[in-house]
Amino acid sequence: MSKPVIFNCTVIRDGHQSLAATRMSTEQIIPTLELLDSVGFGTLETWGGATIDSGLRFLKEFPFKRLDEIRSRTKTPHMMLLRGQNIVAYSHLADDVVEAFVRKSIEHGMNILRIFDALNDTRNMKCAIDATIKYGGHAQGTICYTKSPVHTIEKFIEMGVELEKMGCKSVVIKDMAGLIPPYVAAELVRGLKSKLTVPVWIHTHDTTGLGASTYLAAIDAGVDAIDVSIVPFANGTGQPDAARMLSLLQGNPRRPDLDTAKLAKLAEKFGVIYKELGKFTSHANEMVDNDALKYEVPGGMLSNFRTQLKDLKMEDKFEEVFAEIPVVREALGWIPLVTPTSQIVGTQAVMNVKFGRWKNFIPQAMDIALGYYGTTPAPVNPEVQKMAEEKAKKKVITCRPADLIKPAMETLRKTLAEKGLPTDDEHCVIFAMFPKELEELYKKPAPAPAPVAAAPAPAPVAAAPAPAPVTTQAPSAPVPGGASRMIVEFGGRRHDVLVEEIA
Ligand code: CO
Repeated sequence: MSKPVIFNCTVIRDGHQSLAATRMSTEQIIPTLELLDSVGFGTLETWGGATIDSGLRFLKEFPFKRLDEIRSRTKTPHMMLLRGQNIVAYSHLADDVVEAFVRKSIEHGMNILRIFDALNDTRNMKCAIDATIKYGGHAQGTICYTKSPVHTIEKFIEMGVELEKMGCKSVVIKDMAGLIPPYVAAELVRGLKSKLTVPVWIHTHDTTGLGASTYLAAIDAGVDAIDVSIVPFANGTGQPDAARMLSLLQGNPRRPDLDTAKLAKLAEKFGVIYKELGKFTSHANEMVDNDALKYEVPGGMLSNFRTQLKDLKMEDKFEEVFAEIPVVREALGWIPLVTPTSQIVGTQAVMNVKFGRWKNFIPQAMDIALGYYGTTPAPVNPEVQKMAEEKAKKKVITCRPADLIKPAMETLRKTLAEKGLPTDDEHCVIFAMFPKELEELYKKPAPAPAPVAAAPAPAPVAAAPAPAPVTTQAPSAPVPGGASRMIVEFGGRRHDVLVEEIA
């Protein structure tokens, strides 16, 4: 039991996603890499999650180019976050697109693909896991931790066992909200370690101030690796910082031998970048958020709610909206709150309070109720499901949702050719997820070596931490018939949602 615990460094993915709206540019990252590579981290999390969307949209960077730039300057294994069948978008994609994305990621040097599904439905993870194995990558199976009456330690362990059977080389507990208490984490780690032969990792956030204690308990329970970051892109809504964890582990035989002088030097370098990204950072994200503990939702949801409710002139309804979240979650089968379900549940809770329960059923929530996101952890409330069927004019499905999606690569290639854009697989898979953004990239001249801090248009929720932000902007002019429009933002992408009353 004295094997040192592995420290993975998230600073150039979750670190700035959680604390600086995913705005760190490749140009800013490059000068940190040599040092970062030599600290002794087990892996560097460098890609995936919101970095692809945000880098393309706001920084005008082609995602695979960013990966190449970072990969070629580092020897430490790389890790990325992949939303199963969603890849790094917000809805399911065709199997051939998922497979091509995985193959290309591995060809461009990605080593560990951390694969999750918002519903913990392993059918939505299978295609990405199979492709990772097929192309020689390390498939890491993810258990999204959430609190609900149906999420028990036993259920999470069962899921871990299943992921190992599916061929995952390791399993990670992903606590996106920073809600797992230390002794619960320890129990879960012990349970998984007793049933699995593959390594067990843990990923948390320090949003509620529990992060570092949770890691300590998990380490004592035998966890193989933890995710840390580097200040100032650490703590608060980010991962606990590496130097703090090393100090906490003084005297513990599992303390890894990391170069603290290099960490201090890196903190200086990242300190400069943090200042450059000042307009995307927020003091609220740096603090322990007691409200997140009280309401048991990801910190990102809280800050977004504050904006959302203000825009809708519903500030006085804060408590009411929060009381509605468990109602929505229960009706929708106790889904975890992680991108994109946190955004969907949050928006539906606001709608229920504003217009009356289920009077304005948002399309994405109807799709969850009808099985289009996968099997929910508990059954969907039958009345709510019936309402969704009538309103959406769609039937409930029980198959794997992606079984309904036709292969898309050849069509994507044809469309790209028609548009005069590159037609390689890299462009096809990015176009499948972010068509508008990819076209934009080719419309604009490549950005001159302008200071990247001056990135275009600050996001409306610049300060929102991971999971990817959702916000509703002030509803534009009311639409006839008692409906209203809302701009809902998922991880930097804006969706115009028409919200209308069911007569
Ligand atoms: Co995270």
